[in-house]
Amino acid sequence: MADLKDSIFLKNLRGEPSDRTPIWIMRQAGRYLPEYMDVRSRISFNDLCRTPAAACEVTIQPIRRFGFDAAIMFSDILTPLEAMGAPFDFSHGGPKLARPLRDERDIRALKRYPSLEGVGFVAEAIRLMKAELGDRTPLIGFAGSPFTLASYLIEGGGSKEYEHLKTMLYSRPELLQELLDLLGEQILDYLKMQVAAGVDAVQLFDTWGGILHPADYERHVLPVVRRILDGLKDTGVPRIYFLKGSAPYNHLLNGLDVECLGVDWTQDLSRAIAQLPGRAVQGNLDPLALFGSHEQLKARALEICRQGQAAPGHVFNLGHGILPNAPIPAVETLVRTVQEFRRGH
Ligand code: CP3
Repeated sequence: MADLKDSIFLKNLRGEPSDRTPIWIMRQAGRYLPEYMDVRSRISFNDLCRTPAAACEVTIQPIRRFGFDAAIMFSDILTPLEAMGAPFDFSHGGPKLARPLRDERDIRALKRYPSLEGVGFVAEAIRLMKAELGDRTPLIGFAGSPFTLASYLIEGGGSKEYEHLKTMLYSRPELLQELLDLLGEQILDYLKMQVAAGVDAVQLFDTWGGILHPADYERHVLPVVRRILDGLKDTGVPRIYFLKGSAPYNHLLNGLDVECLGVDWTQDLSRAIAQLPGRAVQGNLDPLALFGSHEQLKARALEICRQGQAAPGHVFNLGHGILPNAPIPAVETLVRTVQEFRRGH
């Protein structure tokens, strides 16, 4: 029987030789898939995240359709915040928090849930997904980084300028730090719970860590990211850290104990690999490349595969999440192109 440990996804994360480059796509379960929209016509996004059988179904959809080399559990980075007392409403487009956190009273009212009982549905969903995926496809668990979660908690949703977050950073850095430390503990527990429930790898999403001066990134973001990654080391599952806009911070990321670093499309992959020696990389096609000609798409995908051979391991991905309008034939072309590439080692 096949052993998941020998899957090309996990081999590449561990930096072991493999004959091809695995591929999965951030947000691969989502609105560009008609079968996802079909499920969503019957259930709200929030309920979908909280209903294990439904979350399992949409996790499997992109595996069934495209044969990706890894599945990612269906949930959201904001889902675990509800049990801390910060429920996000997704029903009007982007996520919205009714009462954004602005001062110490708001922050200290957050509940640190010791038993993780508030997120039991995530553990249950992981068990269903593992049973469904069997020994064919590894499952990725994930969480948002404390800084990215703090940005949604303080702004109350998405933001252009991060006015409230940065006002706190520049006026009350110790208060922001208190929030980041609290989230750091919670997220470490949350990810350990996912590993105990059966995920084969974990990814920490840091979508907004890249909006800071490197000195502020180093002071406020990096230490808590390091604590989470270090805290997961003993679990033995490979860890991926995806920081969007990470190019100016590569010298800082170098010091992290992590198996794989995500790279967005604004970086040349060869250059990023040279700056991040000794570890696997994940990326880094522009999600918008799916909207161009298939010749362009294939050429760019193959170039990334070739560049990825210089790293001990390479997991092909987009440089950020796939967009709702992405054309399905382009995803098919991309998966075929990457899976036909032969990796030298
Ligand atoms: O990758 C996957 O397929 C797994 C599921 C997943 C979702 N969100 C599903 C989702 C994952 C890993 C995420 C992570 C996430 N969520 C991040 C970090 C990664 C990134 O993309 O930057 C962030 C910042 C969020 C927060 C979030 N969730 C926003 C800002 C939004 C609304 C805007 C948008 O892009 O739609 C969501 C909603 C969301 N999360 C959807 C999906 C499929 C769409 C909701 C719907 O079906 O209506």
